[in-house]
Amino acid sequence: MSINSRIADEQPTSFAFSAENKKVIKSILAKYPKDRKASAVIPLLDLAQRQHDNWIPMKAIELVAETLDMAEIRVLEVATFYTMFNLRPVGKFFIQACGTTPCWLRGSDDVMRCIHDKLGIKSGETSACGQFSMLEVECLGACVNAPMVQINDDYYEDLDYESTATLIDRLASGDIPPAGSVKGRQGSQPEPGPTSLGEIIDLKTAKTKKPSRKTAGKTRQGGA
Ligand code: FES
Repeated sequence: MSINSRIADEQPTSFAFSAENKKVIKSILAKYPKDRKASAVIPLLDLAQRQHDNWIPMKAIELVAETLDMAEIRVLEVATFYTMFNLRPVGKFFIQACGTTPCWLRGSDDVMRCIHDKLGIKSGETSACGQFSMLEVECLGACVNAPMVQINDDYYEDLDYESTATLIDRLASGDIPPAGSVKGRQGSQPEPGPTSLGEIIDLKTAKTKKPSRKTAGKTRQGGA
């Protein structure tokens, strides 16, 4: 995909950070030495995108460059390198579907086929209803629960054709499913349940008991 095809043809004539985000920028910049302001380019691009309906107009690229004393092309290089940054409008639900080897081996082709069947879109496109956009991306770091997609800020894991269809239907109806494994796995525990730490000790009674699948997952993660 060329850089030009990633940038919206129609651009707003201006962009300014909100008063609230100006305060956030101040606190971000305080983390870096004054002559290393460019290190804040990703957080500032993220702020611009969140403020502007999940996409970054060129005027925001210019403003980030000016704020960080960077050349505009350097900021654009960063914005075009990372798939999490959108340079053209996207739907309310931005689906990043992982197609890298672990997800592919576990059925990411079925997930993408479902997205195409249900929404009529493939990578880089937005559905006719305007609600959904899809982009095929490289590994999102949740390979243990492959295949998976990221939708806006949330990961949905352990998908197959049917569960992807259900996920899309629920989102379309405004019923946002909880993030995580659609099979209910806790973290990355084995599908049949825990294979170690099969007992937990109740410190109050000094008795051991078998944890439920759910409790075991939480125990292993150090949760309550
Ligand atoms: S390969 Fe899909 S999350 Fe890593």
